[in-house]
Amino acid sequence: MIGYKELNTIKEYIEAKIDFSPEAGLVLGSGLGGFSKKIEKIAEIPYSEIPDFPVSTVEGHNGSFIFGYIGRNRLPIVAMNGRVHYYEGYHMSEVVAPIRTMGMLGAKAIILTNAAGGINLSFSPGDLMIIKDVITTFIPNPLIGPNIEELGTRFPDMSKIFSPRLINILENISKEVGVDIREGIYAQCTGPSFETPAEINMLRVLGADAVGMSTACEAIAARHMGIEVCGVSCISNMAAGILDQPLTHAEVQETADKVSSHFESIILGLCENL
Ligand code: HPA
Repeated sequence: MIGYKELNTIKEYIEAKIDFSPEAGLVLGSGLGGFSKKIEKIAEIPYSEIPDFPVSTVEGHNGSFIFGYIGRNRLPIVAMNGRVHYYEGYHMSEVVAPIRTMGMLGAKAIILTNAAGGINLSFSPGDLMIIKDVITTFIPNPLIGPNIEELGTRFPDMSKIFSPRLINILENISKEVGVDIREGIYAQCTGPSFETPAEINMLRVLGADAVGMSTACEAIAARHMGIEVCGVSCISNMAAGILDQPLTHAEVQETADKVSSHFESIILGLCENL
C-alpha cells in the first residue's frame, strides 16, 4: 500500500532533486515512447531511484519521470516514460502512485495515453480514439482503502471523468492535423491474458468501444484529486475473436509504432493549447 506518508516521501525526494513545477502530466503509452524526444528535458529521474516507488517489471526498462518544457508555449510538463500495471502484482495504490505524485508536484491536467484493443466493429487497427468515458467495473477501484483526505473526498463524482474542455481541444487539433479521430468508451480489464471472445462480446453489449489494461484506474485517481483528465487510445489491434487471428504483444507494439507520428502531433497540439 502506498498512502499519503509514502506519497509525501516521494514528492519530497523529487523536490529535493529538482526545482521544477510541472503544470501538466503526461503518461506515455505504447506509440508515444518517441514523444519524450520532443521534450526540452531538464531532468530525468528513474523510478528505481525513488523511495517506495513501483518499478515496471515488463518491457526491458523500468521507467522514469521526464521533466521539461514542451511545445511552442514551453509548457512545464512531467512525463511518465513507462507505467506499472495492476497485472504485475502491484496494489492499486501503487499502480496510481505515479499519477498522484504528478498531481502533488503541481500538475493541474493529466493526459493519459495507451494502446487498446478495438471492440467497436467500425474501428480499425491504427485508429486513434479520444476516451469519452470508462468502464472500471472489472478492476478494483483504486480509491479502495482509507480515503486520503488530503487528496480528495471519499465519494468523488465521476460524471465528467474526462474533461469536456480537453476533449474539445483534442477534437479541434485532430481536425487541424487531418486525423479522422474516433471517440469512445474504454473498458479496463486486469490482464495480463488478453480477453476471451466471450468477454469482448460482453463488453460490446455493455457499451465499450475499446479495451485495455491501464488508464481507467489512473483517470479515477486523478479525478479524485480534482485534476483535469483526458485520454487517447491507439487502437493497436481488433479485440479477441473479431478477426480470425491470435493476439500478440508484438502486434500491439508494431501498430502503435506505425501511428506514432499522428499520435505525437495530436498530443503536442493539445499541450500547446492546454
Ligand atoms: N486487450 C487488452 N489490452 C490491450 C489490447 C487488447 O486487445 N490491445 C492493447 N492493449
